[in-house]
Amino acid sequence: MPQSMTNSIQFFDIKRQNQQLKQELDTAIQSVIEQGQFIKGKEITAFENQLATHLNVKHVISCGNGTDALQIALMAMQLQAGDEVIVPAFTYIATIEVIALLGLTPVLVDIDLSTFCISIESIQASIGPKTKAIIPVHLFGQCANMEAILAIAQTNKLYVLEDAAQAIGSSYTFNSGKSAFAGCMGDIGTSSFFPTKNLSCFGDGGVMFTNNDLFAKQIRMIANHGQQQQYIHEMVGVNSRLDTLQAAILQVKLKQLTSFQLKRKANADLYSNAFKDLAEIVIPFEASNCSHVFNQYTLRIKSGKRDALKNYLTRKGIATAIYYPMPVDQQLAYQSKCNIRTSLKNAEQACNEVLSLPIYPELKTEEIEQVINALKLGLGEL
Ligand SMILES: Cc1ncc(COP(=O)(O)O)c(C=O)c1O
Repeated sequence: MPQSMTNSIQFFDIKRQNQQLKQELDTAIQSVIEQGQFIKGKEITAFENQLATHLNVKHVISCGNGTDALQIALMAMQLQAGDEVIVPAFTYIATIEVIALLGLTPVLVDIDLSTFCISIESIQASIGPKTKAIIPVHLFGQCANMEAILAIAQTNKLYVLEDAAQAIGSSYTFNSGKSAFAGCMGDIGTSSFFPTKNLSCFGDGGVMFTNNDLFAKQIRMIANHGQQQQYIHEMVGVNSRLDTLQAAILQVKLKQLTSFQLKRKANADLYSNAFKDLAEIVIPFEASNCSHVFNQYTLRIKSGKRDALKNYLTRKGIATAIYYPMPVDQQLAYQSKCNIRTSLKNAEQACNEVLSLPIYPELKTEEIEQVINALKLGLGEL
């Protein structure tokens, strides 16, 4: 492979983290293998309890992946076919997919360009008689405006399902001074343990959070074929479980979650300080009432230079990513499945301008400096 085709700085390298934790991970995995209970082993409950304590939430229920978590949460809300769910047009497709799969109608709304999260004005303009729920997505690691979203939901009697796949551990402070973690503020919250997430396992994994006992009971039932008692099926359910091995791995990694977050934030600060005065770049906005956990460090590159800059960085051996290149309303599968009542111009603009840089905790300072220098040089040359 020619030099120009190799990435000397990878976008994400999970091997570094696993190497640092190798001894503890090996012991945890070996213990599950020896005990042989690969489904519903004791590590599942232990991990759920530890995560509940960490996030100060009453119920934590693990499942197969973050997409299942969204689907099970929506199923627990028992919406009827044709009911509407408000959701941002700029998100990972999983958030929308599950709405359509359940015969509900996604109502696509715009985002706030500064946070990349759901726009409050756009939610207000989109509520109709069939609207039953809002799904704010805490995109890239920072919470949506939950103060406003919860107030709108209360006034209009809507459920709030938080998609916190990218924001586990992000803390949000309300005007009252009370704080809560991403995923633990609405009726139900969900997250993902996919390997690139801030808390990750060795494959797929997902989780649901709720402070509501009834939802917790229904979620557990739905994730287990709709049964509480074996072979007695009270609801239509699915089979979605976190493996015991993954729970054992997650127990090890949960202990490091706060330190991973601090490293991501330190990496983000290096980038933001270097880029803050560049006219063609918008650095990530960090709200004063919410800690950004930087699952992604996402810039907006103005003047139509995003794609050229990405190509330039690739030539310099630096991997970057575009989350997301196309808003949901333009995706073939969803063109006739969604209701749209507001302009989605910010979502479209974000798709044309976003560029995510490597940000994972184990990135070395000299690697970050290499990215900074290459990006500045690239902007100058293009
Ligand atoms: C915002 C968002 N929602 C949902 C998901 C789905 O999670 P999973 O890949 O574990 O199914 C992801 C995963 O990337 C995501 O980023």
